[in-house]
Amino acid sequence: MSERLEDRVAVVTGGARSIGAAIADRLAVAGATVVVGDLGTNEAHDSRPLDVADEVQVQAFIEGVVADHGRLDIVVNNAGIMFETPIDEQDLDSWNRMLAINLTGPMLMSKHAAPHLAEHGVGSIVNIGSLEGDACNPAHAAYAATKAGVHGLTRATAIDLGPQGTRCNAIAPGWIDTPLNASYVDTHPDRDLVIAELAKLHPIGRVGDTTDVGDVAVWLASDESRFVTGQVITVDGGRTARPSLPGMLL
Ligand SMILES: NC(=O)c1ccc[n+]([C@@H]2O[C@H](COP(=O)([O-])OP(=O)(O)OC[C@H]3O[C@@H](n4cnc5c(N)ncnc54)[C@H](O)[C@@H]3O)[C@@H](O)[C@H]2O)c1
Repeated sequence: MSERLEDRVAVVTGGARSIGAAIADRLAVAGATVVVGDLGTNEAHDSRPLDVADEVQVQAFIEGVVADHGRLDIVVNNAGIMFETPIDEQDLDSWNRMLAINLTGPMLMSKHAAPHLAEHGVGSIVNIGSLEGDACNPAHAAYAATKAGVHGLTRATAIDLGPQGTRCNAIAPGWIDTPLNASYVDTHPDRDLVIAELAKLHPIGRVGDTTDVGDVAVWLASDESRFVTGQVITVDGGRTARPSLPGMLL
């Protein structure tokens, strides 16, 4: 297990906490040298300041990693934000900010990483999409649009960089218990009840943990997935495999 990514250098955006931190931890356990790029910091890893929406910062971050570690093989585009605004109340500034972080950020990271990923022929980009790239909760127009965009970007990147030996896939997580969706959960006074009700929506009987995403990211980053590219891998405990039924029938 600890040798799967030996000699590989990985960057994880948004790796200061939650899903990104779990991905960084799992990549490191698998033997990779990991650099986190985030607005915040992660004491457990080489952690550098980065706003993924700023192309100058993205280019400097990538060049800095390659200068310090000699190569770059794995890019995990995980940084993301979410807010709730119905489409008829959506203001342009927050719409553009959501696009800049959730969709333009992965594009910029992939663009500037591409020449380095091609050098050793084992490059792997893992984008973090969402179930909401294919379906949508209320007041999530901006978020759902960016995540559908990430899924499209994933396929496009796989096609453009495939001839260079670089793969690109996305993970579409379901409900992972992190601060990102706290604004939803916190609309109800009983958090434990909300989580218990959410768990019932999952055939596997629980909501997701950050490591559920981290372990799939390691597989997509590693040579074990060498013939997998351009795919969106759903990691949702089976939630979307079951069509909804009226509550009286459950
Ligand atoms: N939590 C879920 O249920 C869930 C489900 C599906 C998809 N996702 C996706 O997973 C990813 C991580 O989500 P999370 O739940 O861990 O969120 P989180 O809010 O807990 O963590 C997000 C991290 O991204 C960083 N970040 C935000 N803006 C940034 C920027 N401009 N530049 C660099 N870093 C920035 C934050 O500082 C933070 O460390 C996101 O892309 C999110 O859309 C989450």
